[in-house]
Amino acid sequence: MIPLTVPDLRGNEARYLAQCVADNWVSSAGPYVTRFEARMAELTGCGHAVATVNGTAALHTALMVAGIGPGDHVIVPDWTFAATANAVRHAGADPVLVDVCPATWTLDPALVGQVLAAAKPPIAAVIAVHALGHPADMDALGSLCRDAEVALIEDAAGAVGARYRCRPVGALSDVAIFSFNGNKTVTAGGGGMLVTDHESWAARARHLTTQARSGPDYEHDMIGYNYRMTNLNAAVGLAQLERLEDMLAAKRALAARYDATLAGRADLAPMPRVDWAQSNNWLYAVRVADAGDGAALVAELGQSGIEARCFWRALSDQPPFADAPTCLAGVARALSGAVVTLPSSSGLAAADQDRVIEALARWRGAALVPAA
Ligand SMILES: Cc1ncc(COP(=O)(O)O)c(C=O)c1O
Repeated sequence: MIPLTVPDLRGNEARYLAQCVADNWVSSAGPYVTRFEARMAELTGCGHAVATVNGTAALHTALMVAGIGPGDHVIVPDWTFAATANAVRHAGADPVLVDVCPATWTLDPALVGQVLAAAKPPIAAVIAVHALGHPADMDALGSLCRDAEVALIEDAAGAVGARYRCRPVGALSDVAIFSFNGNKTVTAGGGGMLVTDHESWAARARHLTTQARSGPDYEHDMIGYNYRMTNLNAAVGLAQLERLEDMLAAKRALAARYDATLAGRADLAPMPRVDWAQSNNWLYAVRVADAGDGAALVAELGQSGIEARCFWRALSDQPPFADAPTCLAGVARALSGAVVTLPSSSGLAAADQDRVIEALARWRGAALVPAA
């Protein structure tokens, strides 16, 4: 089976892990954690980076340092991974689900503007998600959030290395998070990172993620969390970052080949790429007419020994978020089940991508209509 995406561990990962064991630094303190944080701060151009156990924990922490808590409402795109909205609930707040743009599959600034202006409910923060590694329209969202005096948070979980108008994602908001789970371009086995320019927010994030210790002898000054990344995970993550440019180039080349294959197809459209965004091409995805065609394409590729998956479903259609306030335009729901991710590993062999391309050439689906 050609996998959807597998880690690309051809660099210093094993060597750095062996170093952790040799030095007895295997837990949540150690030099690789500090180095991984420093590298992510450098890469994003942010003043501070705080490593966490996963991206969801980083998002929960980002919300807490932004002052979000019970009674607050936070705008979340309707088309995202559940973790984005789950983290809002972990912070005790409530998500408000807002639709995405058909052109980018990311948060629609026009709808965000409407929700902020209506103030029903009043909004305390906005989370923009860089879907599939494609940046959201951060200038438009930033200006809306500044005018409304609400925090802007980037969920850049899968978007390491992506750029918005030539600026790295992560540096386009008050606080941003990344995920390093096994399916991401850069993995740490599991892990997350919070980046921010606000020094006091970073200090609070460090405090909250390490059980809010206030002294060496089991003294604590608030409710804290065991959210700190381990040195083992950071060792892998740091080694991965050393090869980031190579992995991004490999993903760019894969995406360009898939794009070329899809030219002229009425039943398959490539994932969006707009000219102000440089996606990191985390997962290559195609849109098909509807969820039925999505399932049919996944099944057909499966029969050819190719792993593909239907991607996110609108959160507003799912039981945990059924009671959330919404501002929808039909885009997230049209995308639900109709976006299929294809093998996208940075180490994918050309012959394996040929097999995927041949299988796509054999498949026939219904003609697409615009997402909204
Ligand atoms: C958009 C988005 N947000 C948050 C997360 C959560 O990250 P993690 O799995 O590291 O907790 C993911 C993970 O895939 C994601 O895709």
